Amino acid sequence: MKKTNHSYLEADSFGPLPCEEESVHLVVTSPPYPMVEMWDQIYSSFDDEIDGLIQNGRGAEAFERMHCLLDQCWQQLYTIIKPGGFACINVGDATRNIQNHFQLFSNHSRIVSAFSKLGFDVLPSVIWRKPTNAPNKFMGSGMLPGGAYVTLEHEHILIFRKRGKRLHSPQEKMIRSNSAVFWEERNIWFSDLWTDVIGTRQKMHIDSLRKRSGAFPIEIPYRLILMYSQYGDVVLDPFSGTGTTALAAMTFGRNSINIDADQNLLNASFKIPTMHGLKSDLNQININRLRKHMENVNDKNMLFFRYKNELLKMPVKTNQEKQLTIYPIKSISKNEAEHEVIVNYRKLKKEELAEIISKSLEITMNT
Ligand SMILES: C[S@@+](CC[C@H](N)C(=O)[O-])C[C@H]1O[C@@H](n2cnc3c(N)ncnc32)[C@H](O)[C@@H]1O
Repeated sequence: MKKTNHSYLEADSFGPLPCEEESVHLVVTSPPYPMVEMWDQIYSSFDDEIDGLIQNGRGAEAFERMHCLLDQCWQQLYTIIKPGGFACINVGDATRNIQNHFQLFSNHSRIVSAFSKLGFDVLPSVIWRKPTNAPNKFMGSGMLPGGAYVTLEHEHILIFRKRGKRLHSPQEKMIRSNSAVFWEERNIWFSDLWTDVIGTRQKMHIDSLRKRSGAFPIEIPYRLILMYSQYGDVVLDPFSGTGTTALAAMTFGRNSINIDADQNLLNASFKIPTMHGLKSDLNQININRLRKHMENVNDKNMLFFRYKNELLKMPVKTNQEKQLTIYPIKSISKNEAEHEVIVNYRKLKKEELAEIISKSLEITMNT
């Protein structure tokens, strides 16, 4: 892995997407959530009936019109994704009181239905629990039966696959082996409930922007990219916001295409001066993965790491992890004219590996 490109474009993803047919291996995105108030204005700017419907208490119709806009994006994804490629959509349902009528708007089920109609295979999905510490989180009048509502403290990651088989040349087969994940990661990530995303709201170069832009924790695209793509693949985020998907793609040697209707947000997120320190932040993610793996190897309760990884020289559980490797970022630069960030990678040095192994031993011995 030598280099990846990350383009960022201001465009309306309800309209034609600037991507070629069958050019994308994976979509990871989180759209503006229909019927969540912070996104009303943006939906109304694309369909001027929506605001009036909400004002007149016709929530179900407003909900449907918002989803009709999203459908225009989903429909194009079917053409853009390569056969056997994946789409992972992160979305939360909405609860809302409209003219004293409290109701749930089930965004996740409406999106599953849209993808299924388009011909995608609907795969088992993930629910992840959001960090919550609101003192008055309960909705309704309290202790009397029927007087309170269940609070929503989770979001959905919906997973779809375009029909067809991904074919691998002998060279691509090796890249696929290099892109394997650790056995312990597989066990946690390929589970339908993620409770450990809590608290991973990492310090990022654009923290203040992230808070008001509905950004998801980097752990979400990070896992999905490792689960459903390989080195050198193209990942698309048509609602890229602060560019969290792009950051995960940079970390793991995937190319990315990032589209958002908000030019200011795009420019701020992909601004090189604010990316100062980013290289070491992103490299730390991979170092933490390796450290965590070595802590598991050192854990006496986890026996039988009986294979040896040939590139990292670390014990691993399965034959499929023998070629797993990581590529640290060497440099991040920007081609302003092309609206593109370029990331160069290097090989992991022997001294770096030795340090990871000794640090993880220290941690295990101290616990
Ligand atoms: C939930 S946020 C995505 C946050 C992103 N995952 C992150 O981590 O920052 C939804 C994004 O969709 C963008 N958006 C809304 N309507 C759009 C449209 N029609 N085309 C492209 N982007 C749109 C908004 O500007 C917003 O940044």
